[in-house]
Amino acid sequence: VAAGMILRPAEAAPTVVRHRATVTRSHRATLGGTVWLTGLSASGKSTIAAELERSLIDAGRPAYLLDGDNIRLGLNADLGFSAEDRAENVRRVGEVARLFADSGAVAIVALISPYRADRDRVRAKHDEAGLPFLEVFVDTPIEVCESRDPKGLYERARKGEIPGFTGISAPYESPRRPDLVLRPDDGDVRTLAARIRTLLD
Ligand code: PPS
Repeated sequence: VAAGMILRPAEAAPTVVRHRATVTRSHRATLGGTVWLTGLSASGKSTIAAELERSLIDAGRPAYLLDGDNIRLGLNADLGFSAEDRAENVRRVGEVARLFADSGAVAIVALISPYRADRDRVRAKHDEAGLPFLEVFVDTPIEVCESRDPKGLYERARKGEIPGFTGISAPYESPRRPDLVLRPDDGDVRTLAARIRTLLD
């Protein structure tokens, strides 16, 4: 092998081997899982997710919110909004959520996650690990999201200032079989979060 040559896993004998955990899930006190909220920008994902996190914590259940905007300021600060970068964003957050879920916490994810295949891969990873995964579709019509426009991003996207903006100039693929669909007319944020809790319980 020439000096400096990078060996990819498929070309090389593996150099990273999984450690078998000595603490297994049955040793942990609580049952963890992931609640994955998907929907357009300004659909209400973050607000519902934050309310769900608060209600779980108030009830003494470990929960942790992984919110797109915040994650993009840290772990995923190197990613943009191309389809490839969004796939990597979803993959990384999916892996982190799986770790939280495995620890016994409820991982609550609020990401646009516009591509069905990316979300399905995260579900498959949870299935493989025997961890519950609930896909919640925050089905707020684009007209409503655009009229809210809390960050002025829709306005800028319409002017062509933000290329590849979800729902305007980039696709959003709605879930085919979500575990739950939440619409703005279904009630206030507490009611919507309570519906997710009922499903979780
Ligand atoms: S994704 O598609 O899941 O990777 O996106 P996510 O990590 O959830 O980030 C969405 C927030 O980024 C802002 N933003 C954009 N959204 C969509 N398309 C483009 N091009 C874009 N550029 C910036 C926007 O504020 C999203 O925030 P939310 O909270 O969803 O409104």
